[in-house]
Amino acid sequence: MFQVSGEGMLMVTARAPTNIAVIKYWGKRDESLILPINDSISVTLDPDHLCTTTTVAVSPNFESDRMWLNGKEISLSGGRYQSCLKEIRQQAGDVIDENKGICIKGEDWQKLHVHIASYNNFPTAAGLASSAAGFACLVYALSKLMNVKEQYELSAIARQGSGSACRSLYGGFVKWAMGNDVNGSDSIAIQLARETHWSDLVILIAVVSSHQKEISSTTGMRESVETSELLLQRSQNIVPKRIKQMEEAIRNRDFTTFAKLTSADSNQFHAVCLDTSPPIFYMNNTSHRIINCIERWNQSEGTPQVSYTFDAGPNAVMFAPNRKVASLLLQRLLFYFPPLPGDDLSSFVIGDQSILQEAGIGSMKDVQSLSPPPETKDSKFLSKHGGSVSYFICTRPGRGPELRAHGDALIHPQTGLPK
Ligand code: DP6
Repeated sequence: MFQVSGEGMLMVTARAPTNIAVIKYWGKRDESLILPINDSISVTLDPDHLCTTTTVAVSPNFESDRMWLNGKEISLSGGRYQSCLKEIRQQAGDVIDENKGICIKGEDWQKLHVHIASYNNFPTAAGLASSAAGFACLVYALSKLMNVKEQYELSAIARQGSGSACRSLYGGFVKWAMGNDVNGSDSIAIQLARETHWSDLVILIAVVSSHQKEISSTTGMRESVETSELLLQRSQNIVPKRIKQMEEAIRNRDFTTFAKLTSADSNQFHAVCLDTSPPIFYMNNTSHRIINCIERWNQSEGTPQVSYTFDAGPNAVMFAPNRKVASLLLQRLLFYFPPLPGDDLSSFVIGDQSILQEAGIGSMKDVQSLSPPPETKDSKFLSKHGGSVSYFICTRPGRGPELRAHGDALIHPQTGLPK
């Protein structure tokens, strides 16, 4: 029985963060359950800067499950959406609110349809793990709507939407344990530490301009599993060791080890891509130039000042141990990759913009008068590449998913359609 409230609809709005892997997931042992061939570790990014907001609504008047992403209707017929919807309905509990006249029994959810509206606060096309935040948010919001009791099982459901999504169910520092079970019940995310454990870390993202459509992670990793011997060696002999070292580095806030492992693991992941047949190129010239800039700096100091990591695309995600070092990194990056004349500084560095002030950069003129980094003695390293980075985002480790107020709802309470 479903007795409806005055509005005839029950609604929940939530937001969920993206995450960036510092020990990468690359390769599945089961394609349909999305079970990985190795553990991975990620840092959750502050949802104030990068997140998905999702409203889920239920009404006896809805005739089918429907979803809108950034205002445009998308199909829910794909296997990944269907798995998430099916699994979450199986876990659904009773929702009874006598004051509002609502009485939905756990088993009723099998027959009721939902409307879902989702919105990313960053460009979906920028290649910034939108599916991770998207599936984490969908599963989290539905679990609240349907009163799912076992919150710890949510990561195993989100995983079936997109592997990396399982890590977005927690804030801070997160491990996805590959598990052993054939049904995937122990392939879940575990929080290693909250975001407050290492709040000095600064994360700088360079959204690199690219006209190339990259091969998807799903396809890329399938081809690597089929053809790369290096991937086998990596998953069996290298990642297990690195996972232990990374857990310890995070526990001790040991930036030197964290930075070495992060950059090395990114480079190995891209080496696996090159070892795949046919080879996969995710990084471009700008990505390589960013790596060179950081490596030259780190080499000249004798110890890693900052680290970098790249996913299945050319964008760089960089870590600095504190704001002072992050300012020095931003100065270097703006020297080599300045905005184009006419660009606006306030849309070229977004997120936590206070970093600009700390780097002493208040105007485009300040960018133009940046001096070359002191480690750059050879004039062949002095050429600038204006326009090759579209923009930078400054962020930090952030919180996991959370509920939002009704005022943030993306679905109209009368029509059941996106606002
Ligand atoms: C390079 O989670 O997008 O970002 O499970 O097929 O949806 P599917 O793949 P996805 O792969 C992410 C790969 C990566 C590394 C990582 O996030 O660990």
